[in-house]
Amino acid sequence: MRSFAISIAAAALTDLAHAAPAASSFGTNGSLPNLGLYQELIELDLFHNGLAKFSAEDFQNEGLNADDMYLLQFMADQEVGHATAIAICSDYSYPFETVREFLQFSEFVTRFGEAGTYGFLEHLNSRDAAQIVLQAVTTEARQEMIFRQFEGIFPMPFWFNPAITQSMQWTLMAPYIVGCPDDNARVEFQNFPALNITNNPNVTQLTSNSTPALHDPGETIYLEWESPGKSVGPNNSYVTNTTAGDPKFIAWISQLNVTYTPLTNISGNSGHTTQPNLTIYSQSKYTDGSTAPLINGTVFVLVTDDDTIHVVAGPAAYFSG
Ligand SMILES: *[C@@H]1O[C@H](CO)[C@@H](O)[C@H](O)[C@H]1NC(C)=O
Ligand SMILES: *[C@@H]1O[C@H](CO)[C@@H](O)[C@H](O)[C@H]1NC(C)=O
Ligand SMILES: *[C@@H]1O[C@H](CO)[C@@H](O)[C@H](O)[C@H]1NC(C)=O
Ligand SMILES: *[C@@H]1O[C@H](CO)[C@@H](O)[C@H](O)[C@H]1NC(C)=O
Ligand SMILES: *[C@@H]1O[C@H](CO)[C@@H](O)[C@H](O)[C@H]1NC(C)=O
Ligand SMILES: *[C@@H]1O[C@H](CO)[C@@H](O)[C@H](O)[C@H]1NC(C)=O
Ligand SMILES: *[C@@H]1O[C@H](CO)[C@@H](O)[C@H](O)[C@H]1NC(C)=O
Ligand SMILES: *[C@@H]1O[C@H](CO)[C@@H](O)[C@H](O)[C@H]1NC(C)=O
Ligand SMILES: *[C@@H]1O[C@H](CO)[C@@H](O)[C@H](O)[C@H]1NC(C)=O
Repeated sequence: MRSFAISIAAAALTDLAHAAPAASSFGTNGSLPNLGLYQELIELDLFHNGLAKFSAEDFQNEGLNADDMYLLQFMADQEVGHATAIAICSDYSYPFETVREFLQFSEFVTRFGEAGTYGFLEHLNSRDAAQIVLQAVTTEARQEMIFRQFEGIFPMPFWFNPAITQSMQWTLMAPYIVGCPDDNARVEFQNFPALNITNNPNVTQLTSNSTPALHDPGETIYLEWESPGKSVGPNNSYVTNTTAGDPKFIAWISQLNVTYTPLTNISGNSGHTTQPNLTIYSQSKYTDGSTAPLINGTVFVLVTDDDTIHVVAGPAAYFSG
């Protein structure tokens, strides 16, 4: 069963890799399948890295047993299948030291991988390529839910999964790729200046006997962003850029749409905003009568110069729940 699943996925992505240069795409300048491969490769390296870095005892201390480690190993194997043998990059830098941080980072990486894929699917005019990409991303979405459960948080506190653009996905991914072989394919998408939510809830600090320190509507969000012109990504060979004017709004990409809140208390490259108090549809409620919030789970936040997606900085992943 196991090798069967892997070989199907491998065949699918081998097809994707070979079809990629020919598979033209609407409004993307033809370079889109590359980013999908970068995504699969960072996941492959990341899952192996976590398994190599932490001992069985480290995992056990977080309540994860041999079966859970087997599942992680299996997810790494899925990424082998997704990426096949195409060596693009081999040198990564990850911001985790503990099993919990590894789980949170893996949830983040699979989250932006999923959202980035949904963002480009409709631009593919090769139906075959779109179908293959879809079959790989459904696996990725399940991995993301498993990471949330390993973290001890609700697997899917939303009704819809959001989509982001390729530039947004590349902006989120590039900081963790240190170097790539010289003959690797360049990603043609823009890198926006990085955005940091300085009071982002830190899921690694939740404990099972404390109320989750996650954020509710009305919470003040503190933001800091970089100026354009910074070297980022593989071999520092990409430069962040924006064509936007002065920062004025915060865009929240969550569930089915994008909403905006005013950016306040602006001082240099920092400012505040407030987590909006909105429901998915007007008056959306759960069975128990509580409202179904628009913002929950890991959502994407950007600084914009208008209430349209014209990006000054970001996205940042906001770990609201
Ligand atoms: C995509 O755009 C880049 C930069 O504008 C250009 O160099 C490249 O040739 C374009 N690629 C395709 C496939 O048109
Ligand atoms: C980029 O980094 C990779 C791996 O870190 C290295 O092998 C390669 O030579 C570097 N390329 C350049 C142009 O520096
Ligand atoms: C984001 O802000 C927090 C809080 O100030 C800080 O600890 C963290 O290092 C910042 N992250 C980045 C990538 O700058
Ligand atoms: C979360 O908290 C831990 C422990 O205080 C810290 O080491 C880590 O850098 C934090 N992670 C993030 C993403 O802020
Ligand atoms: C987010 O979802 C979780 C799990 O369903 C729930 O406990 C929490 O109250 C939700 N947050 C908000 C702001 O509704
Ligand atoms: C959010 O909106 C609901 C419904 O309008 C209201 O009952 C609730 O008090 C609001 N919460 C906050 C934090 O503003
Ligand atoms: C930023 O990107 C735009 C659009 O791709 C380009 O025209 C401009 O030259 C870039 N600016 C810098 C400083 O790289
Ligand atoms: C943010 O700005 C508001 C309105 O100008 C002000 O009342 C508030 O004190 C400011 N908050 C901080 C933390 O500076
Ligand atoms: C997104 O959905 C929420 C909830 O229905 C709504 O309040 C908001 O206005 C919508 N935003 C846009 C930009 O349509």
